Amino acid sequence: MRILTTIHAMRLACKQARRAAGEDSTLALIPTMGAVHKGHLSLVDAGRKECDVVAASIFVNPLQFGPTEDFACYPRSFDDDCRQLAKAGVDLLFAPEAQEMYPAGATTFVEVAGLSERLDGASRPGHFRGVATVVNKLFNIIAPDVAYFGQKDAAQVAVLRTMVRDLDLPVRIIVGPTVREPDGLALSSRNRYLSPDQRIQALALSRALHVVEELVDRGERSSVVLRAAAAEVLNHVPGLRPDYIEIVSSDTLEPVVSVASGALIALAAWAGETRLIDNFRVDPASHD
Ligand code: PAJ
Repeated sequence: MRILTTIHAMRLACKQARRAAGEDSTLALIPTMGAVHKGHLSLVDAGRKECDVVAASIFVNPLQFGPTEDFACYPRSFDDDCRQLAKAGVDLLFAPEAQEMYPAGATTFVEVAGLSERLDGASRPGHFRGVATVVNKLFNIIAPDVAYFGQKDAAQVAVLRTMVRDLDLPVRIIVGPTVREPDGLALSSRNRYLSPDQRIQALALSRALHVVEELVDRGERSSVVLRAAAAEVLNHVPGLRPDYIEIVSSDTLEPVVSVASGALIALAAWAGETRLIDNFRVDPASHD
């Protein structure tokens, strides 16, 4: 795996790798903020299966963190991340410094209006502007054919799909399923912050989704009823502070009164200082 830290070197390396792989070769991109876990690696696996060249990025993007958020202490484990990504089959790793991505005087941002203020965007003002801007830059630098993102961050997916559509970006977005611990907890770089007690509290998120999923399976469609069932689980865990419980369209992130295929049940809650999210998307096959 080649590690590139400048935009110029990464552009060149992508061009070379494509040339070496043949005229019709395809390039996959898996953007990450590092602290690599099996969720990230599942996206690398998907890229490896579908594309000739696999690029990943590690960049803790300052633009998507609010002033009181965890940018300074976000887990950084670069050497271990490199080992894992290389083993999973990444060919090119882009790992720039913040200065390289945002030199003094950079004043252009990508704003997906509306969607960016919903779900996590409501609790984290400016977050999705940071995400859209950095992902747009990564697309411009790396020029992938396909980019892989996790369902775990469902609102991020909706924002990025909208950005790609509205700006005619020539990138196909593929969404990988949420990878979980055996007990249900969705993998997240931020799980490293959790104390043993908070780790137990955090299980309420997947438990609440499971309760909702079972109700949907039994035919319940009312958002009011489903939301109340999720709240019942989350509100009864001492120490856990729910942030939002939303039932929305997975494309527009607008609330829906009744769930149908494509609806998203999304949760966020605080365990101590750690904000956790999880969601469940109603499956088109079984719930139409
Ligand atoms: P990060 O949190 O590092 O996640 C990188 C990618 O891995 C995202 O697409 C995320 O949705 C996916 N992912 C995280 N946990 C997952 C899990 N348990 N199962 C499957 N996929 C999972 O998301 C970001 O970084 C940033 O916002 C980024 C897109 C890199 C822009 O800075």
